[in-house]
Amino acid sequence: MSAGFTVAIDGPAAAGKGTLSKAVAAHFGFAHLDTGLLYRAVGAKVLAGESPIKAARGLDARDLEAADLRTPAVAQSASKVAVIAEVRAALLDFQRSFAARSGGAVLDGRDIGTVICPDAHVKLFITASAQVRAKRRFAELSARGIEDSFDQVLADVQARDARDRERVEAPLKPAKDAVLIDTSDLSIEQAVAQAIAVVDAQR
Ligand code: DC
Repeated sequence: MSAGFTVAIDGPAAAGKGTLSKAVAAHFGFAHLDTGLLYRAVGAKVLAGESPIKAARGLDARDLEAADLRTPAVAQSASKVAVIAEVRAALLDFQRSFAARSGGAVLDGRDIGTVICPDAHVKLFITASAQVRAKRRFAELSARGIEDSFDQVLADVQARDARDRERVEAPLKPAKDAVLIDTSDLSIEQAVAQAIAVVDAQR
């Protein structure tokens, strides 16, 4: 039933895309690609001294398993390399092939519904207020022993929002046909249930 069925999930940093995407993929038995990880892997290589375009063109699957891709420094570096057109172009084919796999796929990122998969069967745009997103990210980082202050985490989220939204190439914005889910006042269970209901309605 789901050959080539694609679910595009976009939204700003720490809106809950990752949790939702994993839950939707698990519910329907679809594969899941966190496209932010591609940019984080390039960002990590740049912090290690490589040039962004070379790093993006040479990216391989093992780079996505690097241990330290979820740090605030790598997140900022990812957001910076993501403004470079050649970096985005180098990562395009991999994402499109993943989206077209038989058995269904969920991709989450910033430009999935607008640029990578404009014909996705379902498009979701996940938001939450910057305060709520920073609170969630702060709790997540604290649980992992990363001791940034709340104000620093909020400033990082806002800086990334601005860069991701204002860039020329594939800026973060909802596709015209995306369904918006604001998770500010929703539990994870409520948000997952809403997302699953939207996908179910399109199958
Ligand atoms: O989803 P994330 O926070 O792991 O993404 C890290 C950065 O990568 C994000 O700030 C912008 C960039 N990114 C992008 O430009 N396009 C995507 N599809 C996914 C991520």
